[in-house]
Amino acid sequence: MAGKFYITTPIYYVNDKPHIGHAYTTILADVLSRYHRAEGEDVFFLTGLDEHGQKVQQAAEERGIDPKDHCDEMAPRFLELWEKLHISNDDFIRTTEDRHVKVVQDILQIVYDNGDIYEDEYEGLYSVSEERFITEKEAESGDFRDIKKLKEKNYFFKMSSYQQGLIDHINNNPDFIQPEHRKNEVLGFLRNPLGDLCISRPKSRLNWGIDLPFDTNYVTYVWFDALINYVTATGFGANDDSYTKWWPAEYHLIGKDILTTHAVYWPTMLLSAKMPLPKSIFAHGWWLMGDSKMSKSLGNVVNPLDLIEEYGVDPVRYYLMREMVLGQDANFTMESFIRRYNSDLANDFGNLLSRVSKLIEKNFDSVVPDPVENTDAENVIQNAAEKVIASIHTLIEEMKIHDALEETLQFIRGVNKYMEQQAPWKLVKEDKTAAGRVLYTAAEALRIGTLLLEPVMPNRTEIVLETLSVSKRELNWGGLKAGIKLKQHPPLFPRIDVKKEKIEEKEKFINYEDFEKLGLKTAEILTAEKVEGADKLYKLQIKMGNEEQQIVSGIADHYTPEELIGKMVVVVSNLEPATIRGVESKGMLLAASRKKELSLIIVDGKKVESGKKVY
Ligand code: ME8
Ligand code: MG
Repeated sequence: MAGKFYITTPIYYVNDKPHIGHAYTTILADVLSRYHRAEGEDVFFLTGLDEHGQKVQQAAEERGIDPKDHCDEMAPRFLELWEKLHISNDDFIRTTEDRHVKVVQDILQIVYDNGDIYEDEYEGLYSVSEERFITEKEAESGDFRDIKKLKEKNYFFKMSSYQQGLIDHINNNPDFIQPEHRKNEVLGFLRNPLGDLCISRPKSRLNWGIDLPFDTNYVTYVWFDALINYVTATGFGANDDSYTKWWPAEYHLIGKDILTTHAVYWPTMLLSAKMPLPKSIFAHGWWLMGDSKMSKSLGNVVNPLDLIEEYGVDPVRYYLMREMVLGQDANFTMESFIRRYNSDLANDFGNLLSRVSKLIEKNFDSVVPDPVENTDAENVIQNAAEKVIASIHTLIEEMKIHDALEETLQFIRGVNKYMEQQAPWKLVKEDKTAAGRVLYTAAEALRIGTLLLEPVMPNRTEIVLETLSVSKRELNWGGLKAGIKLKQHPPLFPRIDVKKEKIEEKEKFINYEDFEKLGLKTAEILTAEKVEGADKLYKLQIKMGNEEQQIVSGIADHYTPEELIGKMVVVVSNLEPATIRGVESKGMLLAASRKKELSLIIVDGKKVESGKKVY
């Protein structure tokens, strides 16, 4: 019976915009979720935002706004990016939500009632400007102002009591911290005595947080708050069985930067609250950028998220998953992105689709031929397919996504080779049945390869599945039905022309002379009337100083004639004349447009006359 699979990402701080690192962990969780769903498992995929604490309070203060307003503004940016990246999360938690506040307070109370929270006075050096305690060393560095000795009463969690329990748990559960070298790092850390954890902040210095249920002069430390999100989302404390169904999580995916909080603080908190520990904490490495040697030839370092606009989401997802060996750091370079794209996606995967569909179209009227009976060559392909299906299953269980992708691509390369050896384009002239068998086999192998890649590239694989009319995702040989008609498809992964890319990179800049050629001028709109037979078009008379010109402009959906007449706008006055719907047009109005909205660039006519140059 297929089980359940609960996977989480870190909840990201809202003090900053989402970036490639956030995108990476979230895509990784998405890919794993999709593989497990495809296996028929019941998946719960959680991501969200960490909205409390000093960093967020500061970010809001710098902007002069309320922290909650700041969070409400940042949250949609993350949501928009997740949508763009085709993230299939089941829940999106924000730590300012009521459901979370309640669970944090409940768990604090449980830990307190167990006698694991005590009060103590802490005396140390406090930097008023930084609003935090600093070490002697930091004080000596001279980087801190307004240092004073401060005595502060705080609440502490008896983390030290759980040191041995944690060590035992790690040793008894070899998969608890992955990969192996991170486990060893944590065990190394635990060889030294573990201190207790200060879990409160007096409201006099931080109030953006959750109140301690047993002393409302304090808010709780942001990590005690944040980590609990993983149980909040399962419905802890609710009147149903969803918490017991989902908790503990199969995986907490994190970056190596937050290993200690997840592998030490979190399990000791859970041990104290007598709750089960997550099955596995998996820390991946960092994406590094700006390897100067690699980026030099292209002249710059690219923001990987910009690549989405340029080449689509799926190639970026594929690249991130294929290029990082889970657990190690990886380097992002434009070169390696283009190389991966052209070799794996365009030459191997995309090429197989276009060959198969073209040959079936040309020789079999687009109808998938009957394989009739396998020869040895087809048996080799069928065996390879069965092997790769089993192998991907294991590799995903072992979190070896890069290997899973490589094996899938190897399989596809093997099918391309089979095509070359069998040469169905020649074979068809001598033995049409044999050619049909080859093309069926290649198409069926393509279907299986595509299904194996679907979790990584849910968008583009849809094109292949549509072409082959695949509705059921059956991962066994023979699922493709002979006799179905192939559909037309766009090219799957058009090759990136490296030379052209380099030129385009240069052409991003224009010089002043180029700009001057534009002839941008202010113009007053004198009249506006509909062009006959064209709903969206207006014929406009405009005035530029002493000159008058006629422009046809597609803005009739957005402005009424009354709204336009008398307005001062910006036009490209020297645009080559054209005849649009039989009406002469000379020049172009400037407007800002986003999808269906459109807004003209309007100039303050009280300050400037028509016919003035625009710089
Ligand atoms: O630490 N490469 O949030 P955060 C790979 N709120 N992954 C990266 C990365 C990079 N260069 N940069 C960031 C926090 N990440 C806390 C977490 S959880 C209860 C609270 C990813 O916004 C990686 O997953 O700083 C890392 O752990 C996370 O973003 C840190 O996000
Ligand atoms: Mg961080």
